[in-house]
Amino acid sequence: MKKFAFITLLTAITYLANGQITVPTNKTFVDIIPNPAIAQFGNPKSAFTINANTLIYVQNDSLINSANFLKDYIQKNYNRTLQISSTKRAQNTINLISQTTFQNFKDSYSLTATETGITINGNSAAGVFYGTQSIIQLLPTAKSSILKIPAITIIDYPRFDYRGMHLDVSRHFFDVAFVKKYIDYLALHKMNYFHWHLTDDHGWRMEIKKYPKLTEIGAWRDGSIIGLWPGKGNEGIKYQVLPNEVKITPSDAVIKTDGIKHGGFYTQEEIKDVIAYAAKRYITIIPEIEMPAHSMAALAAYPEFGTEPTKKYEVAQTWGMMNKYNNVFAPTEKTFKFLEDVLTEVMDLFPSQYIHIGGDEASKVWWRQSLATQQMMKANNLKDENALQSYFIQRIEKFVNSKGKTIIGWDEILDGGLAPNAIVMSWRGEKGGIAAAKENHKVIMTPETKLYLNHAQFVKEDSLTAAKLLTLETVYNYDPIPTELTPAQSKFVWGAQGNLWSEYIANPAKAEYMIFPRLDALSEILWTPKEKRNYPDFQKRLKTQLKRYDLMGITYSRRYLEN
Ligand code: ACM
Repeated sequence: MKKFAFITLLTAITYLANGQITVPTNKTFVDIIPNPAIAQFGNPKSAFTINANTLIYVQNDSLINSANFLKDYIQKNYNRTLQISSTKRAQNTINLISQTTFQNFKDSYSLTATETGITINGNSAAGVFYGTQSIIQLLPTAKSSILKIPAITIIDYPRFDYRGMHLDVSRHFFDVAFVKKYIDYLALHKMNYFHWHLTDDHGWRMEIKKYPKLTEIGAWRDGSIIGLWPGKGNEGIKYQVLPNEVKITPSDAVIKTDGIKHGGFYTQEEIKDVIAYAAKRYITIIPEIEMPAHSMAALAAYPEFGTEPTKKYEVAQTWGMMNKYNNVFAPTEKTFKFLEDVLTEVMDLFPSQYIHIGGDEASKVWWRQSLATQQMMKANNLKDENALQSYFIQRIEKFVNSKGKTIIGWDEILDGGLAPNAIVMSWRGEKGGIAAAKENHKVIMTPETKLYLNHAQFVKEDSLTAAKLLTLETVYNYDPIPTELTPAQSKFVWGAQGNLWSEYIANPAKAEYMIFPRLDALSEILWTPKEKRNYPDFQKRLKTQLKRYDLMGITYSRRYLEN
């Protein structure tokens, strides 16, 4: 973490070059989210105006992504077309340059705007991209022909290397056009990882050439439960604040479904296109293939990989994990071969170093009651089903590692012993993350009480959500570094991630409604130096951001405009 005691901007720049930084704790009302580390306005008379002749200069080809993104944003929102050039010009230019000045500050950038132009200097192409996102947030929030940028100097860098957001496309399918929009939203907030939850009980969403039934059968379900789980609508179910979860046992469940076919999937060509789109925004896509549980869609297509191979499995129509419905993969050689084939296609397609293999909520009942599984456990000296879960994950890890890649798993992968090189995504609170960090494993924090953006944001919502409450302020006040970790252990906290499970999110507008503005709060947790976090200040800056969302046509709750 960086040390601080602010003197002047120039000093700060020198410190940055020397590998130290000084963060001022005085308030800066630059309406940028996430709040930059250092920002100082210049002379108000020296604002820069973008006009029809303004040029975007790129010092080298690696910066063209940033230039194009800025150009497209200005074109789309203000109907002004700027030219991009690799020839320098003294006046009326937005200069994008990358000089490796701030070597100790990964993806840092400086931005200076005066009346003659703007210069962004990043220590990487990603740093320059983050600078262009700050320019975007300095532009007018209404359609305007006068595009003024105030005179300003910014020095900025991320606090965490992993700044993630997840999207569940299994419970409800979102098309490529929306996934790209979602990626743009992440880019605007300087996020750098998109966790694409591609498979689950309710739908398999990625074309796998070797197993076509995964999408022919597994991508479609015959209905979805009506209302809140277990399908009785909202009647009689009260929203309760965690940790007092609504208690409904599987035996109470009366499943009512709408009988409407739902589904969809991405072809490998579409996925390639989305990966390239994200890469131009410096966002890595981490694909998730769930195992050993959350596998009903796969089992509906290939029942031979379940613990009851003669059963007619169905793509699940009801949410939640209920033993009655949610079967798991059987730990047979045939299943491992299938999973390795699937992962091979996934790893061939996704350049990400990291592959998420799920690992959560595997009901042990299926393995317990399967004779073949019990025999397999005996043969492999596995004393119980937790040991089998660990064996399962470690075996998959070995395979993924053999291709030079690293697995990420939900914190249940700690049960029965952690796979040697695995990264843990801590969702059942921070306990799993803390335990993994203490074992020197990288950790991504995503505790459900703090970062599940599918939970209700108000006590009373006007549409259905998960029956748990997560306010904007709660998100804002979350810090990914648990107090019980020593500084050395804290280094294993790679960052944090917001999750958007889509049981009650059936369309893009609802997805936007759920992430905005809690994504803003999340981005500030992940990017801004901790000593600069200040909720009242954030709320002020948010007002401008919400106006920008109006300009961009983004859906969010108007209740945030009320105070
Ligand atoms: C999870 O929410 N089951 C990771």
